[in-house]
Amino acid sequence: MGTQFRWSFMHVVAMALIVLSLSHSSVMVSGVYYKKIQVMLINMLEPGKNLHVHCKSKDDDLGDHVIGYYQNYTWSFHDNLFDTTLFWCGMDWTGTGGSTVNGSFEIYHAKRDLNRCSSYCTWAILKAGLYSFNRATGEWEYFFGWPIVISKGAGMKP
Ligand SMILES: *[C@@H]1O[C@H](CO)[C@@H](O)[C@H](O)[C@H]1NC(C)=O
Ligand SMILES: *[C@@H]1O[C@H](CO)[C@@H](O)[C@H](O)[C@H]1NC(C)=O
Repeated sequence: MGTQFRWSFMHVVAMALIVLSLSHSSVMVSGVYYKKIQVMLINMLEPGKNLHVHCKSKDDDLGDHVIGYYQNYTWSFHDNLFDTTLFWCGMDWTGTGGSTVNGSFEIYHAKRDLNRCSSYCTWAILKAGLYSFNRATGEWEYFFGWPIVISKGAGMKP
């Protein structure tokens, strides 16, 4: 998955630091059949810009959360026996001129991510889209762009 996005120096440094901090905290699996998975979303939109997220699975609704710039939102769960675990997240933020940018993304899908993420699935949320760290290859991968731009006053929460 390629992208024309030019990484800013700051993002490159930040993402390298995140990878470093993750590799220092690699705790291992806590069960034989049920693997513990941690998902982390990091707001890298731009200074001062909050990211609203709301993540769900078939069984869990994690509620609304606001992530400040360079802050992260993290949760963990146990993958099920059949690798069918699926979490998706609605996200929105305020773009230029007060428009709302939003989308709904498949953030964890065992079939796609068990090997790619191992126990840690890390996402960097940028204006250019959503990047996820592939622990198998050691690279950030571009996954999703922002599909929707709604003009100001279209009814999103502030
Ligand atoms: C995630 O947030 C926690 C608590 O705010 C912080 O201690 C931790 O360093 C952050 N991790 C990364 C990778 O940004
Ligand atoms: C994005 O905004 C539109 C319009 O307010 C809304 O209908 C849609 O549910 C939103 N999508 C997400 C993922 O929040």
